[in-house]
Amino acid sequence: MVDAQNDIIKIEGLVKRFGDQTVLNGINLDVHPGETMVIMGGSGSGKSTLLRNMIGTFTPEEGSVKLFGEDLATLNEQGMNDIRKQFGILFQSGALFQSLTVAENVALPLEEHTDLDANIIDFMVKIKLELVGLREAADKYPAQISGGMKKRAGLARALALDPKILFYDEPSAGLDPVTSASIDQLMIDLTQKLGVASVVVTHEMDSAFTIADRMAMLNKGRMIMVDKREAYEELRDHPLEGIDELTEEQQLIRQFLRGDPEGPMSESHTQNSYEADLLGADLSKLTGGRAIETTRRVK
Ligand SMILES: Nc1ncnc2c1ncn2[C@@H]1O[C@H](COP(=O)(O)OP(=O)(O)OP(=O)(O)O)[C@@H](O)[C@H]1O
Ligand SMILES: [Mg+2]
Repeated sequence: MVDAQNDIIKIEGLVKRFGDQTVLNGINLDVHPGETMVIMGGSGSGKSTLLRNMIGTFTPEEGSVKLFGEDLATLNEQGMNDIRKQFGILFQSGALFQSLTVAENVALPLEEHTDLDANIIDFMVKIKLELVGLREAADKYPAQISGGMKKRAGLARALALDPKILFYDEPSAGLDPVTSASIDQLMIDLTQKLGVASVVVTHEMDSAFTIADRMAMLNKGRMIMVDKREAYEELRDHPLEGIDELTEEQQLIRQFLRGDPEGPMSESHTQNSYEADLLGADLSKLTGGRAIETTRRVK
């Protein structure tokens, strides 16, 4: 049904460096129309950087990011603006303008990017607010509404121009479990009602398994698994007794999905001797060649 021609996002061989740090190292990823792709990985694994490459904020050192078949790196400003109208972004905290009401915040993209009549814009704003269950808060200012309502308002604004893709970075960050679950449900509803594709970066495994069609796991700048949610569920539920059947990478993913403190992920994050780090010295000289066992774990 969906072939490569139809991928609305296609990332090939993406390399992103900051100075001499390679943050993303040869990433391949496709997103199909209408699907929800969840991107996971430890803190600092490059999730937000990948998202910023997808929205054209960062340009890759190598490889390409195509949206709707267009290589972002080749677009001029006008071309980039046209593409931008086709996706919405939900930032952490909703990133609303504090001096504007909820309705004015949602109207903003319509005023900036269309020449629609004020009446029509009003009408469209009401539809978007109804979609996210926030019509009654239209005239409130961001400071007067809760964190969950801010997320909804941010989502209504992201939807203002009827995007084909929605990008979310940590949509449930800072929300209580119930509010977070209601945002998950809203994301699912919107996907079904509007047919938009979503790319969601999240740490919250409950949320990831609720919303994902497919999932992608980043580790140390590499994409180590892209597969259907069911494949990830199987890995998560793989019994400990059969752990040796799994590759090291699969074990690492299993650990991540379960939030286990012990496993290859912790070991791979074990850094050089803390003492060596502190002293910046060759410690074998200080210890007469004896190894120092103290290690620091970074989660
Ligand atoms: N603009 C930047 N300049 C320099 N280094 C950056 C920049 N943005 C990110 N990095 C580095 O890239 C690495 C990956 O960061 P990124 O924010 O993508 O991680 P993340 O997976 O989103 O982490 P988290 O889960 O904590 O949000 C980090 O080491 C970070 O310091
Ligand atoms: Mg991040």
